[in-house]
Amino acid sequence: MLGTFTYSNPTRLHFGKDSLEALKEELPKYGDNVQLVYGGGSIKEIGLYEEVIAMLEDAGKNVFEDAGVMPNPTVEKLYGGCEIARGNDVDLILAVGGGSVCDYAKAVSVSAYCDEDPWEKYYVRMEDVDNDIIPVGCVLTMAGTGSEMNGGSVITNHATKQKIGHVFGDNVFPKFSILNPELTFTVPRYQMVAGIFDVMSHILEQYFSGTDDNISDYLSEGLMRSLVHSSRIAVENERDYEARSNIMWAATWALNTLIAKGKETDWMVHMIGQSIGAYTDATHGMTLSAISSAYYRHIMPYGLARFVRFAEVVWDVDAAGRSDEEVASEGIERMETWMREIGLVMSIAELGVTEDMLDGIAEGSFVMEGGYKVLNHDEIVGILRESW
Ligand code: NZQ
Ligand code: ZN
Repeated sequence: MLGTFTYSNPTRLHFGKDSLEALKEELPKYGDNVQLVYGGGSIKEIGLYEEVIAMLEDAGKNVFEDAGVMPNPTVEKLYGGCEIARGNDVDLILAVGGGSVCDYAKAVSVSAYCDEDPWEKYYVRMEDVDNDIIPVGCVLTMAGTGSEMNGGSVITNHATKQKIGHVFGDNVFPKFSILNPELTFTVPRYQMVAGIFDVMSHILEQYFSGTDDNISDYLSEGLMRSLVHSSRIAVENERDYEARSNIMWAATWALNTLIAKGKETDWMVHMIGQSIGAYTDATHGMTLSAISSAYYRHIMPYGLARFVRFAEVVWDVDAAGRSDEEVASEGIERMETWMREIGLVMSIAELGVTEDMLDGIAEGSFVMEGGYKVLNHDEIVGILRESW
């Protein structure tokens, strides 16, 4: 039975080859001072920087650049971004980049006028926003996180070895996002497949919960089938517009809050993955792929019926004459085969995890209670060992 919920998604989303043009209609809605946030320079290499600057100039904006947002943005970078925003009375934060750039823009948006340490308030204590929020707009260049249409913002604190995501309310969602799949053609192969698995993991971690008949699970199955199909095409030809556009749109729907509605959700792979990220600074999607095999094999007995359905519906496993355990296992095996085929990292050792980190990673993993098995510390360590 569907639970009780409110659904609101205020992000205005422009999709397609010419979608950057929409910046012309969005920019006049905001004041003159724009903080232009971007990463390590890929937007300059692909010519996007010049295009965006020209559009900002045509719209008569004063541009304050905030470059160098790193993958897995840090709390120190956040403090610097807040100074730029406050010091220039910024009216709009325009994020041009991947999930890290969008997440960081949202973090600055809620933190610039926070009168205490935003890391403590929003990430450690997870409090609601009660100060002014600067509007954010995104031009997305990489598919994966769903940050373009949600309130999520993940920040890393290397000093305390914590990587924490706050899911803010819909007043923090980007006001608009621009998604041109062609902009993703230049994403390096490693990042592309990591992004694809990030999408898969978002769907899996909402799908593997509950035992009721819930429309969200049917939506998730369709998204997974499409994602697997398109990913196989994209690894053969990274410039296949049809595949890249389907992947980009699947990424948005995987985490724009829709498929979580009326459901419990799991999120344990993300909690462990983020803790691995805090220790290693590894690429987000790879922290998820490296532990997923061991995690899903561990929880399978507790949610067997859903794993059987997953095998049959998503992976076309033939169940005739076989036990539920056999069918469910084959579903996981087919997923693993696909993961290897597209080139995902399947071992945490490859991400730089060493034995002395295991306890700390387990300790730093928030334990979620919506999945099929609530894990204890030893089980998390066991999953990490299995994932070596
Ligand atoms: O920094 P630049 O030079 O832009 O290069 C980036 C970066 O090195 C590059 N890239 C992006 N678009 C490109 C490109 N290179 C060439 N051509 C392009 N078009 O790709 C690298 C990775 O970018 P990043 O933004 O870090 O990747 P992603 O989109 O996977 O974002 C990861 C961050 O998002 C968080 C993760 O934890 C991580 O910090 N997440 C945010 C979520 C949310 N808001 O809901 C949910 C996710 O689960 C995730 O936790
Ligand atoms: Zn993710």
